[in-house]
Amino acid sequence: MANQNRKKVITVIGARPQFIKAAAVSRIFAQTEGIEELLLHTGQHYDRKMSDVFFNDLGIPAPAYNVGISGGGHGSMTGRMLIAIEEILLSEKPDFVLVYGDTNSTLAGALVASKLHIPVAHVEAGLRSFNKAMPEEINRILTDHCSDILYSPTDVATRNLLGEGVRGDRIEQVGDIMFDAALHFGRISEQLGNRISQYGLEKKKYVLATIHRQENVDNPDRLRAILVGLQKVSGEMPVILPIHPRTRDRIAAYGMEDLIAGLKIQEPLGYLEMVALERGAAVIVTDSGGVQKEAFFHNTPCVTLRDETEWIELVEAGWNVLLSPVDPTDIYQTVMSRIGTSGEDIAPYGSGDAARKIVNSLQKRFI
Ligand code: UD1
Ligand code: UDP
Repeated sequence: MANQNRKKVITVIGARPQFIKAAAVSRIFAQTEGIEELLLHTGQHYDRKMSDVFFNDLGIPAPAYNVGISGGGHGSMTGRMLIAIEEILLSEKPDFVLVYGDTNSTLAGALVASKLHIPVAHVEAGLRSFNKAMPEEINRILTDHCSDILYSPTDVATRNLLGEGVRGDRIEQVGDIMFDAALHFGRISEQLGNRISQYGLEKKKYVLATIHRQENVDNPDRLRAILVGLQKVSGEMPVILPIHPRTRDRIAAYGMEDLIAGLKIQEPLGYLEMVALERGAAVIVTDSGGVQKEAFFHNTPCVTLRDETEWIELVEAGWNVLLSPVDPTDIYQTVMSRIGTSGEDIAPYGSGDAARKIVNSLQKRFI
């Protein structure tokens, strides 16, 4: 018989990194009495390799809803999400709503729930780049300030929230949910024997690159600098680039196909393959938030092609080097100089039990 006292959470997700974060928490919800989780997929990411592959490989329950909203301007995408999510929350009447990260799906979920007076919990709260030109920075600030419970990953994130006047009793520092994912799914990837040799690569003799951020790929000068820089690196060692659809589309639109001729271009990878490639790489070059940290989790030096980062502790400890992608030679030299390096022995992301802490906290608050 269904337990009438079970509390209902609706988790709003839509983009690749959110599937990975939700996978870590959903598996704990599934083992927890008293809470029923329904997944609401906004549809922001929809290609099989940007969405389904994560549900299949990471054992995420099928979404109860997929409202199929993607593309368009930020206002249009977020606006359509608001309408669709509101309808579902009104009919499902969840006890609380859970959102992750800083995408348009995050903001839409948090905004609708808060206006309906449904408590909202935000995982990965408090991160700031202090660059409002990034769509993610707007999403984070607004989501944090309309959420009720803020699960912060790091000391830096907690300080940011307190500095913005957020009351301490709304903040719980639980560690980084992506550390949980890296530990749990990293073990599974290893057990499955994911091999870099299937990509024709040898351990510590290649560079792994991921590029997708709007400020890099929608700017032809920055995109050209990155691709020419990576071409130069590929003269010394193979560069594998699992390509995000935004980047693929921009390269085609700018007629830059010749600049990727020397790179090993792959379709977006499943997380279990991605982890194997991160572990085996000599250096990771990225503008991804998640991949910067995964480089550290797997002891691989990283170059982040951005002007700033939310994960400043890795730069301070020498694991990550920030480089504004303007000059291809600078990119080439910085990447090559990172081979064989490491950083200080630090542990800023907790103990890999963020998911358990989040679910325990939600149980305490809602059951
Ligand atoms: C979004 C997030 C970004 C996050 C990234 C993770 C926002 C504002 N941005 O950026 O914070 O780091 O996801 O990967 O929410 N596309 C496809 N197939 C897909 C998905 C996207 O072809 O499955 C193409 C479409 O042309 C789409 C474009 O990529 O218009 C950009 O997708 P969008 O979700 O708007 O932004 P991302 O760059 O993916
Ligand atoms: N990732 C993946 N396959 C890829 C590229 C990335 O599984 O081809 C994973 C990566 O390991 C990390 C997450 O996607 O866990 C990061 O997502 P993304 O870089 O798209 O977004 P961000 O973290 O910058 O928001």
